[in-house]
Order: sequence, then structure tokens, then C-alpha cells
Amino acid sequence: MTSNIHPIFDTILQTEQKEFLLNQKAWVVWMVGLSGSGKSTLARALENHLHQSGKLTALLDGDNLRSGINNNLGFSQEDRLENIRRAAETARLLSSNGLITICSLISPTEEVRSMARNIIGEKYLEVYIDCPLEVCEQRDVKGLYAKAREGLIPDFTGISAPFEPALNADLILNTHKNTVEEGLKKLTQFLVPKLQLN
Ligand code: ADX
Repeated sequence: MTSNIHPIFDTILQTEQKEFLLNQKAWVVWMVGLSGSGKSTLARALENHLHQSGKLTALLDGDNLRSGINNNLGFSQEDRLENIRRAAETARLLSSNGLITICSLISPTEEVRSMARNIIGEKYLEVYIDCPLEVCEQRDVKGLYAKAREGLIPDFTGISAPFEPALNADLILNTHKNTVEEGLKKLTQFLVPKLQLN
């Protein structure tokens, strides 16, 4: 498929030049976890915090992507793989242009997460938003768990589709034990030192 393609990656401005301009290191923070675990909340809080510190960011959220570039995809294993592939390629494009890129997608299996890690490379930082299924289901912010239990949503993560805990993540946050502020503090303590250019 890649025959007759002649990419010009080597001759365009390099990531380091964009990072120098923006005075930041362009990591990809890939947040994974069950629906209702708090990924989007923490992603939003992190983006706001970085923005206020003068950092240029982009936020790729699963639901947002699925309302646009990924609106032809469902929740079969195959479609989730394609969903994550496109999100990871997009994150790679954004971070290669110097933006700190925050991604919040369920990313339910080690297979899809390792694909994202491979696409993004050394800039990939995985954060597992760990929250027990029972708590996510009790919160049921979007009312989806109730529908899934009624059998109205097939292949629902945690109910009728798998979720493998991301135990190899670079950082694990427990949103059932910590407030959003505490979670954000842990996130920034982990990330902010890494944003410095050497
Ligand atoms: S992923 O598994 O492919 O990474 P993604 O993060 O893009 O999922 O989308 C998850 C969001 O889609 C959930 O937050 C929820 O709002 C919605 N959703 C709708 N149907 C499902 C389903 N069957 N399983 C999980 N999430 C669903």
C-alpha cells in the first residue's frame, strides 16, 4: 500500500524546531479507563492547567473523535482498533508539530494500547484512570450503563465487552479515592517536569 509514496518527513521543519518555538516538550498523554472513570474530566482539567501555564495543547477525546473523523466506526473489536489507530496517528501529527497532546479514549485492551504506543513512539505516556466498574456504573453520568444492563447497547465496555486493566501504565490514578484536584495534582507532578526542554 505504501508503494509509489514518497514522504518528505526529512525535509520539513522538525519537531524539535516547533518545540523550541513553543518552549515545551511535546508529549502525548494517553488516558485510558472505563466509561465514567473520569478520563475526560481529568483530561479537561489537565488541559486547562497547562493552558494557564502558557503551554500549547490539543485534546483528543473519544466521544469528540467519534462525532467527526471516526463517525463511521462502532464498538466491535475491529472498529475500536481502527478508532485507536486514527486517534494515535492524529496524536502523532499534533505532537510532531510541538503540541502537548492529551488523549482520552477507553482503549480497552493491551492490543490497542500497544498499537497506540507503537504509532506514537517515545513520546507516548500512558495514564490509567483506574476506577472500579461498580463505581463507574453507580455514577452512570451518561446513563449508558443502565441501558447496557437492559441490553440496549451491545458490546458495552465492562458489561458485554472486555476491559483489561492497564497495569503497565506510566501513571495510575484512582478516581474513586481521589478528588479531581488531587488527581490533577498527581498528573501535573508527573508531567510538568517532563515538559522542560533540555
Ligand atoms: S474505545 O473503546 O474505542 O477506546 P472511545 O473512548 O472511543 O472507546 O468511546 C467511548 C465512548 O463512547 C464512551 O464514553 C461512551 O460515551 C460511548 N459509547 C457508546 N457505546 C459504547 C460502547 N458499546 N462501549 C463503550 N462506550 C460506548
